[in-house]
Amino acid sequence: MKEKVAVLMGGQSLEREVSLSSGRRVCDALEAAGHKVLPLDVTSELVSTLRSERPDVVYIALHGKYGEDGTVQELLEFLGIPYTGPGVIASALAWDKALCKRLFVAEGVPTPAWVTFTADAFKQMGAATALDMVPAAVGGFPVAVKPAKQGSALGLSKVDDAGGLAEALLTALSYGDAAIVEKWIEGRELAVSVLDDPDGPRVLPPVEMVPKSGLFDFSAMYTAGETDYYVPARLSSEEEAQVVALAARVHALLGCEHVSRVDMVLGRDGLPNVLEVNTSPGMTETSLLPMAAAAVGIDFQELVEHLIRSTLDAGA
Ligand SMILES: Nc1ncnc2c1ncn2[C@@H]1O[C@H](COP(=O)(O)OP(=O)(O)O)[C@@H](O)[C@H]1O
Ligand SMILES: [Mg+2]
Repeated sequence: MKEKVAVLMGGQSLEREVSLSSGRRVCDALEAAGHKVLPLDVTSELVSTLRSERPDVVYIALHGKYGEDGTVQELLEFLGIPYTGPGVIASALAWDKALCKRLFVAEGVPTPAWVTFTADAFKQMGAATALDMVPAAVGGFPVAVKPAKQGSALGLSKVDDAGGLAEALLTALSYGDAAIVEKWIEGRELAVSVLDDPDGPRVLPPVEMVPKSGLFDFSAMYTAGETDYYVPARLSSEEEAQVVALAARVHALLGCEHVSRVDMVLGRDGLPNVLEVNTSPGMTETSLLPMAAAAVGIDFQELVEHLIRSTLDAGA
């Protein structure tokens, strides 16, 4: 059966352009599959448009705040429209790296040592006077400093010594109300996607990213040719089994539905460290979930169709 599918894209998050490019590709794929497609940029008209158009399902191609943090998911549940991707709780948890890492530690999921600071802790509680304690707390330099709630490596710095810490924190806090200082893990960077099949979650082949600049930043993520990708990743069978099992565990731990992408670094000691979970993985030309799916013979159109189908089947 061919459905009426609204594709939510754009919006006002800092990842607007990335979302528009994910969204356009998703719309093309849905049209090619014969669906009636309603591309919707997120504006103050969204709710009234959804109420009058009454799509059968919403494909969430939004990235970043409000699209990935549970906000739009909560709204769609209220409106009674099924949507692709994880629900409100999983989205909110994955979006908040500081909270998610607490859950990882509580559940024995390996994640780099870190400290979280809120802007209020600096402004109202004098947290700046304790920055000298940070290196010991996370196991020394280098460290990653990043906003707790952001994506696409926005606001991320790699800091090599104490001199760079305050400025990197200011940068990260200019993107949101909390920042993380995390031990930098040297090693192989992996993105491990999980797709729900009718008989349970299926982990797709890990993708390995090797940015030519050495840093997997915004430009390395979205500019063709700036990063080399290996699909499947260059892993021994033991390493692969380990990261695949870890991704499945994290997907289940957060209660993700339909899809997730777990970002990790496999340290030089051969041990994986989970950095974060994405509940609305990119669908652009250079995105990792479509690459992983292609490696097992699922082309872009089938991937999008799979997500629509599992959303509708779940609601049936
Ligand atoms: N602790 C870390 N060790 C090594 N690399 C890191 C670390 N934290 C972030 N990075 C690098 O920064 C990129 C973005 O960080 P990530 O935690 O995935 O946040 P997001 O993708 O949401 O911006 C990662 O893909 C990785 O290249
Ligand atoms: Mg990431």
